[in-house]
Amino acid sequence: RPLEGEVVLSGAKNSALKLLAASLLTADPCVIRRVPRITDVATMVTMLRALGADAGDEGDAVRVEAGAGLSGCAPYELVRTMRASIIVMGPLVARLGEATIAMPGGCNIGPRRIDFHIRGLEKLGARIDIEHGFIRVHSDGLKGAAVPLDYPSVGATENLLMAATAAEGETVIENAAREPEIMDLCAFLQGMGAEIEGAGTSTIHVAGGRPLHGVDHTVIADRIEAGTYLIMAAATGGRVTTIGLDPAHLELLLTKLRAMGVHVEEGAERITVTRDGPLAPVDISTLPHPGFATDLQAQTMVLLSLAEGTSIITENVFENRFVVVDELNRLGAGIETSGHHAVIAGPRPLSGTVVEAPDLRGGAALVAAGLVADGVTEVRSVYHIDRGYEDLTGKLRALGADVTRWGEDART
Ligand code: EPZ
Repeated sequence: RPLEGEVVLSGAKNSALKLLAASLLTADPCVIRRVPRITDVATMVTMLRALGADAGDEGDAVRVEAGAGLSGCAPYELVRTMRASIIVMGPLVARLGEATIAMPGGCNIGPRRIDFHIRGLEKLGARIDIEHGFIRVHSDGLKGAAVPLDYPSVGATENLLMAATAAEGETVIENAAREPEIMDLCAFLQGMGAEIEGAGTSTIHVAGGRPLHGVDHTVIADRIEAGTYLIMAAATGGRVTTIGLDPAHLELLLTKLRAMGVHVEEGAERITVTRDGPLAPVDISTLPHPGFATDLQAQTMVLLSLAEGTSIITENVFENRFVVVDELNRLGAGIETSGHHAVIAGPRPLSGTVVEAPDLRGGAALVAAGLVADGVTEVRSVYHIDRGYEDLTGKLRALGADVTRWGEDART
């Protein structure tokens, strides 16, 4: 069924989680609006409470008050649940001068190392010991420094930004990540009184040591959620408008969709995708922003399976992000992987069967394939999808999709 209609986007998961962590930098209350109702946010709120902060929902906002009783220990059970918990390390060492964080495990898209985080904090004067599966960070007062990153890591940039707000003097982060979520974090920190120059560029200057106060901030829209719905619209031959996102946040996806023959209209916080003809194959390389987003790679494999020819996707960001390929091939796709390359043969008639979501974005890709496949597709382990998509089935039904959810946590 072609998807038709408008979808209002939720706040960005990969910004909201960091803004919640940044609230630890002050004892004043912070209000974060347009927080998506997803399980990763619930995990982060639980983490903040475990650290001794008050945190709770106020409608679609979350209010955080990290008062005097703050402790610096992030428990294993929570870090294991969500490796992004590592993002509390920078704010804790900034606020308390110490942090004890369980080592985040890898996940099935790669080892997810944190060496850039560690080395950067050491440059700012922190002492770090890793033993018994915990990272112990101590500092008698962070000092501003030049912190070059070997790779524009999103998480390392964020941890170092937050730590640098408490480092005496100037910190310069070189080769910083340029994602829109970094810019949103910088806006949040500036709202708290931090002095930051260069947000969104590869060189960010922070004048640290200023006391930070509370802030009321609205999270930017989720560009990966938007890209997922736009890809589903193109895959089903429909017409969908996303509401709430600056099209500039998805520039390369929109360029690639146009190259495939998809019609794309851009407006103020509106993007409309229409596909009513054949799809042309394209080659894609995932790269740090403004390159093609790795978080849209699995979903794009589905679209390229429908193209009239062979496409190649090169995954340059994560070591092992083709896990969903086997499940897509069970739906009839013809994808061959070799190292960092996936060769996608098209067009392939997809036919429904039972499949297993391996991770968040792979799960979204399987749902996208199910919307196109002939017959019924049953996607299992959808708890992965709940980590990053607010009400996926509700939003899809509103676009005309025939999708239902059942089982232990049935909602729609
Ligand atoms: C963030 O992960 C996002 N997660 C990811 O989204 C996203 O795919 C990624 O950025 C890239 O855009 C959140 O924001 C919570 P990185 P992060 O540090 O910060 C290596 C999703 O689906 N690396 O830029 O972990 C690392 O192993 C998730 O929403 C080191 O080697 O990304 C990876 O190969 C998935 N050492 C690469 O860099 C380090 O110290 C990119 O990692 C840090 C990273």
